[in-house]
Amino acid sequence: MAKTAVTRYPILGPIAERWSPRAFDDRQIAEQDLTALFEAARWAASAFNAQPWRFVYAARNDPAFETLLACLRDTNQSWARHAAVLVIAAAKTTHEDGSPNGHAIHDLGQAMATLAIEATARGIHVHQMAGFYPDKARALLGVPDGYEPKTAAAIGYLGDRSRLSEKLQEREAAPRQRKPLDELAFRGAWPKRG
Ligand SMILES: Cc1cc2nc3c(=O)[nH]c(=O)nc-3n(C[C@H](O)[C@H](O)[C@H](O)COP(=O)(O)O)c2cc1C
Repeated sequence: MAKTAVTRYPILGPIAERWSPRAFDDRQIAEQDLTALFEAARWAASAFNAQPWRFVYAARNDPAFETLLACLRDTNQSWARHAAVLVIAAAKTTHEDGSPNGHAIHDLGQAMATLAIEATARGIHVHQMAGFYPDKARALLGVPDGYEPKTAAAIGYLGDRSRLSEKLQEREAAPRQRKPLDELAFRGAWPKRG
């Protein structure tokens, strides 16, 4: 099932075609495709070229998959257990000199967006999640101080949504919504209320 964005203006295919499914197929991701996703993330832009993104990941056949799965909240675990790969994405929150990197989370987000677009171009889907336990991820995955586990992601090929609960099937089929562009982008200055 494609859920390509209905855009008012034409945009690049992999941006329109990216969406966040919960129904994943059992198919594994070839090593070269998986590596390419992190390579794409590696080439994201970042403030001072600090590259604050770090990823801990496991494919479903890896023993660590269950560990990553255990870091997710139950609602996400229920569907993400079928993903081919799980990722915990962390940000390095300081610069090399110890000063805070106020853009670390922003730049981690850029890396994740880049990863997701590369994935889409390869027919692979990425579903990011805030619903996970950062402290548990830190402890179980050995994330050192100075790095903040920020999001999780389930990655894989689209599967049959009949394996989802009825409620999730509904959400899976629901049309994708976005705010209108004129509420988001302001030419010249922020619009005055009233
Ligand atoms: C940082 C972040 C956290 C998210 N957390 C969750 C989550 O915990 N569980 C979930 O099912 N979806 C989660 N999502 C997916 C969003 O709900 C989804 O991206 C949004 O509804 C837009 O849909 P689309 O990605 O299909 O365009 C998250 C997405 C992002 C970027």
